[in-house]
Amino acid sequence: MCGIVGYIGPKSVVPVLIDGLKKLEYRGYDSAGIAVIEQGKVLVAKSVGRLSKLEEKLDAYTPEANIGIGHTRWATHGRPSDVNSHPHTDCTGVIAVVHNGIIENYLELREWLEAQGHKFKSETDTEVLPHLVEHFYDGDLEKAVQQVITKIEGSYAMAVISKNEPDKIVAARKDSPLVVGLGDGEYFLASDIPATLAHTRDNFILNDGEIAVITADGVKITDTQGNKITKEVFHVQWDAVAAEKGGYPHFMLKEIYEQPRAIRETFSSRISADNKRVVLNELSLTEEEIKDLRHIFIVACGTAYHAGVVGKYVIEDLARIPVTVDIASEFRYRNPIIHPGDLVIVISQSGETADTLAALRESKKAGARILAVTNVVGSSVAREADDVLYTWAGPEIAVASTKAYSTQLIAMFLLGIHFAQVRGTIDAAYAERLITGMREIPDQVQTILDDLEDLQSFLKKYAECQNTFFLGRGLDYAVAMEGCLKLKEISYMHAEAYAAGELKHGTLALIVDDVPVVALATQTDLYDKMVSNIKEVKARGAQVIGVTFKGNTELQKVVDHVVYIPETENVLAPVLTVIPLQLLAYHIAVARGCDVDKPRNLAKSVTVE
Ligand code: F6R
Repeated sequence: MCGIVGYIGPKSVVPVLIDGLKKLEYRGYDSAGIAVIEQGKVLVAKSVGRLSKLEEKLDAYTPEANIGIGHTRWATHGRPSDVNSHPHTDCTGVIAVVHNGIIENYLELREWLEAQGHKFKSETDTEVLPHLVEHFYDGDLEKAVQQVITKIEGSYAMAVISKNEPDKIVAARKDSPLVVGLGDGEYFLASDIPATLAHTRDNFILNDGEIAVITADGVKITDTQGNKITKEVFHVQWDAVAAEKGGYPHFMLKEIYEQPRAIRETFSSRISADNKRVVLNELSLTEEEIKDLRHIFIVACGTAYHAGVVGKYVIEDLARIPVTVDIASEFRYRNPIIHPGDLVIVISQSGETADTLAALRESKKAGARILAVTNVVGSSVAREADDVLYTWAGPEIAVASTKAYSTQLIAMFLLGIHFAQVRGTIDAAYAERLITGMREIPDQVQTILDDLEDLQSFLKKYAECQNTFFLGRGLDYAVAMEGCLKLKEISYMHAEAYAAGELKHGTLALIVDDVPVVALATQTDLYDKMVSNIKEVKARGAQVIGVTFKGNTELQKVVDHVVYIPETENVLAPVLTVIPLQLLAYHIAVARGCDVDKPRNLAKSVTVE
């Protein structure tokens, strides 16, 4: 996803901008650029491809300046190219703008501007912004930006500089994150806190409809009418080291190995010391309201959606409340039947996913109560929900989500057990077994990670395959969906997740000699049926990797290779089952020479529809 940086202060701006953009690389991008004001002139350098390409361009000439803005672009309107990269400028190169989001009425605005003689160079929606600023500018950049905002529809985080006012950056946001980092005599602008973390821990988090005017003397925040707003400083607690690779070859592997800690942190303050109760003090939902719940919706995208599918099985099974789980981009347009008092759980690692946020807003309009499960404090989803249950996974840098998913599963377990305890749908002994089981998960995950060190060599033979299948029933099917997505997104190998019982309704035809099949077999009640499905694919020549609990000596008789996970309650199994699948995806991607942390065409945080 696109990233924005900006700087004003005594330092030489180019290295600060490049460093900030590097910190945002994890968001995914296809091109990058900067604009600075050097000796009263706006200078722009931009390039399609990796940041190193931009650096090469800057090696030829590095401007000496103290103010500038930068951008990493993930193409939406207009293909990735030098000319479509940001910053964009007006006709005469006086104004430069970087922008995240989508200007929905840009075609109409472009026609209007062209009719007045404005010449456009790119195919982007963003390019209307510098032209609009130029159109409205009459000696006050801040006022011009205010007027631009009244003309545009859509989402934006934008930063504007002009050679006419070479001492300021004007920034504005709507539906796309933007923070101002507060240094000592210097100020930073970023779409994401990691970009400013090396310089400052104090930030203003801009809200929708706020405009920041940043000079070397300070930051003024106003609403769109120019009325001053007093902001509280948001002090970031994150350890900067948490955003570094820490010795692992890839962020993804580091984050896979961080799961024992992330999982422990997510549940530890939420279960009683005697393992008898889940305590979610942060929720404002009363016991009466929980007892009265008639319907829960879970809405999310991608991996977070897969956590939601697990959530459906778990909450329905434990708390006996009907749960509908939806992909956010479908939910928001399908006119869902939401009644006042229904609970909508939105799950989002970043808390900024446009579709999830839109689904949240639709649900709110319909009178639903919103509970957000997110990993980012102060994110849009967190701020707009009625209640927030944070996952404490720490910043997730790799595009492929791992520790965010496993902590989202913990959040689903916590909610399922909590609701069940309040509604009296599980007995005390079972609740205690579940909570004790949850307490054991971090060590069990560690055991899997330690035991599977040799997985790499074993997996090499699968790296050349073209098609893979992931099969499971019940909760195993929910995890199969996630394992399948992990493999596809980082190794570019085609994979399908199937509810094992559904195979015979068509897809069995695709199981031929040597097709690898990952078969998850942890759910006791479904075990025999799953074994029958494994035999069906074996009979057609599949190479089957089974995943089951330690102590199961039967599965090895019907599969080619077994990966064992420690025994746990069936309901909790997904958080263990997914670990070998994450490693499988990781090692296959490495063996195939893929860019694991930044898979092609994927973004970490999808803040546009
Ligand atoms: C896949 C992945 C994505 C995200 C999805 C939602 O590994 O990370 O599928 O899960 O884009 O993102 P969030 O959770 O930030 O809303």
